[in-house]
Amino acid sequence: MGSNFQIHKLVRENIRTLVPYASARDEFSGPASVFLDANENPHNPPLNRYPDPRQTELKQRIALLKEQLPGNLFLGNGSDEAIDLLFRVLCDPGRDNVITVDPTYGMYSVCAGVNDVTCRSVVLNEDFSLDTRRVLDAVDDRTKMIFLCSPNNPTSNSLEQDAILELIGQAPGMVVVDEAYIDFSREESLLSLVPEKKNLVVLQTFSKARGLAGIRLGMAFAHPELIGYLTAIKYPYNVNTLTIREAMRSLGPENESRFWVEGILKEREKLSGRLVKLGFVEKVYPSDANFLLVKMDRPGEVYAYLMDRGIIVRDRSSVPLCDGCLRITVGTERENIQLLETLELYEQTTEK
Ligand SMILES: Cc1ncc(COP(=O)(O)O)c(C=O)c1O
Repeated sequence: MGSNFQIHKLVRENIRTLVPYASARDEFSGPASVFLDANENPHNPPLNRYPDPRQTELKQRIALLKEQLPGNLFLGNGSDEAIDLLFRVLCDPGRDNVITVDPTYGMYSVCAGVNDVTCRSVVLNEDFSLDTRRVLDAVDDRTKMIFLCSPNNPTSNSLEQDAILELIGQAPGMVVVDEAYIDFSREESLLSLVPEKKNLVVLQTFSKARGLAGIRLGMAFAHPELIGYLTAIKYPYNVNTLTIREAMRSLGPENESRFWVEGILKEREKLSGRLVKLGFVEKVYPSDANFLLVKMDRPGEVYAYLMDRGIIVRDRSSVPLCDGCLRITVGTERENIQLLETLELYEQTTEK
């Protein structure tokens, strides 16, 4: 979609005309030392104060790192918040629809359900690639979003960039590309396209490569007009002070995320190589993420066997195209060895 794409035409009428909540601190931007506007407790600094509702400093840091403008960035309570707010900005309950390309991350359809929006499921090709024709065939004039997850959860592959670009070029609504696992991928992020593609939203998160799932911080990069709507309807203090503090720390010079990613990638290769040698394992799919999709005989039995021994993996065997599959996150070297030893024991017991 080119520059004549009009975001406001996709936005719900009630959101277009909404007057957002404004605090006194939204309205001022100078040096102040006496805060008597928000009924806070004057004791116990700094946590006695409400956080910056605009997250100005953190946004500047992230924008710099990602080579984006702060105006292209929304920060939320995990990318899950951004997903939900996208529905609330764009989709009229009971009327509009979105498209998911399945199997994929479950929150897109859950958020659709919560918001009373129809979710049209288009299944990936057998090799987990994207069939753009089938996706476009599912589109109609009430389709507000197409969700693409790349690398995809749970299939662990990246979607082909040409196919994504084709959808961005042809979709009448927003194309939301969830890049939660991009740091583990061989593919480039689509972030650099955000300034030129008005109907592209890229989601990223602090939960994976940055090792901060506990602080709940997600990012949506999009055109400033859409970011403006998301910001207008969010809870005023949706990102808390402790989250902002930890996120700033993780963006500092001492952050270890690059080393973690390198280590996880090495472990992914090792784990994949050993899993495939197990007699009951049929296939380990190539992964661009920090998890492996593993096809095997009797996945339910293996899942229960691991669970009984305190090892939790995800049973995906009932989702489309994932017959026989468990999804296994790459852990530390020690955790991976523990997993493999337990699976080898399982193999020995079943051989008898
Ligand atoms: C594809 C994908 N997107 C988003 C998320 C959630 O991200 P966050 O922790 O930022 O809400 C996950 C979590 O597993 C995921 O797999």
